[in-house]
Amino acid sequence: MGDYKPDKLFYVGDMLDLWSWSGFGNPPTEGDVTDELDVCREMLSRHRKIVGPDCETFFTLGNHEERASRITNFRPEFRAYVARRLPEEMGLTDNSIRYLDWGGWVNYLGVTITHGEFVSNALYGAANAARRNITKFGGSGISGHTHRRACVAFSSVRGTHTWYDLGCTTRMDQPWKRGKSDWEWGIATSIVFDNQVHVQQIPIHEHGFASPAGKFYRR
Ligand SMILES: [Fe+2]
Repeated sequence: MGDYKPDKLFYVGDMLDLWSWSGFGNPPTEGDVTDELDVCREMLSRHRKIVGPDCETFFTLGNHEERASRITNFRPEFRAYVARRLPEEMGLTDNSIRYLDWGGWVNYLGVTITHGEFVSNALYGAANAARRNITKFGGSGISGHTHRRACVAFSSVRGTHTWYDLGCTTRMDQPWKRGKSDWEWGIATSIVFDNQVHVQQIPIHEHGFASPAGKFYRR
């Protein structure tokens, strides 16, 4: 990020897990959530320092952040906290980050940037999700959500459209996951030329990743 010096930065959501607020039969607790919020706030603040105050920054909230809203269905005392405090507690407001609720998207010069909602654990599930997204949004875009990487394209009389499913940047040893994870790490950069966004999808492997400029970054 420091080398790239972006003038725009997009987070595609699920930075919080909110496992303890999930609907999978866990008793709701606040302790774990407090830790998650601390990490999130620290990370966003660190990134803001790296990219500087002029980098326009967006955060499309994911279904995991949405868990905070759903918990209010059975813990109504959290309602005010979630509505008023979550963006603040995450560090979005302090770091001048514009955010959209889950399902929202940013139109960046015709490229849709959104968290995503489709997922399939089947082989090529991310590619299927990317196909569904390119159909839903009718053109090029970028999403996360599936934790897997894919890139699909179609060409029509209106041009060539590409959808990038980025993968994730989370740890792979989630305590609730059985066996070896089938997730993949990844991010993307882009440059704008002639008012068109040119996306470079960057896979991250065990040892690190290579930037489009040819520099290797160790994990
Ligand atoms: Fe998600």
